[in-house]
Amino acid sequence: MRRPIKAVYPGSFDPITNGHIYIAERAAALFDELVVSVLLNPQKQSAFTVEERQAMAREALSHLPNVKISSFNGLLVDFLRQERSRIIIRGLRALSDFEYEFQLALMNRQLAPDIETLFIVTDAKYSYLSSSAVKEIFNFGGPVQEMVPPGVYRRLRERFPRPIQSQR
Ligand code: PNS
Repeated sequence: MRRPIKAVYPGSFDPITNGHIYIAERAAALFDELVVSVLLNPQKQSAFTVEERQAMAREALSHLPNVKISSFNGLLVDFLRQERSRIIIRGLRALSDFEYEFQLALMNRQLAPDIETLFIVTDAKYSYLSSSAVKEIFNFGGPVQEMVPPGVYRRLRERFPRPIQSQR
């Protein structure tokens, strides 16, 4: 029997957006198992704790039976070895992502030549979407309901309460 093929989709997911969900859905359709793994980086300031980010991802991806949510710290390639996976999934939105993603992929290849980074292109409607844009728009009172799953929207409202009149 062939061994199940497992891919890892890593990221900060602070918080998970509809763009991330789109990538996870497409990756989950390609592989037997997909591990969506949230980076735990004490050096990087995040709006949500790693537990909150995992909970939001778990809720948002609960319709995908072959997706598991986890977290990692340290090197991504070490996490892949621990998970016995050789595939990193990353989403690509625009050309502006490419330079950073290219560097990340080459760095990971330098560290672990047997591990492959695969890119999934986002849907055009998510090409502008990022976690930081969602947080910024929300904090300035803008509408983000169409950009994130309901659980994230609820937690944004709990985390960043704002006057009723500016809520849209
Ligand atoms: O969602 P993000 O913030 O773009 O994800 C970036 C992530 C988590 C994939 C990247 O920062 C990462 O893999 N960090 C772990 C540390 C690591 O392995 N660094 C070596 C490659 S430069």
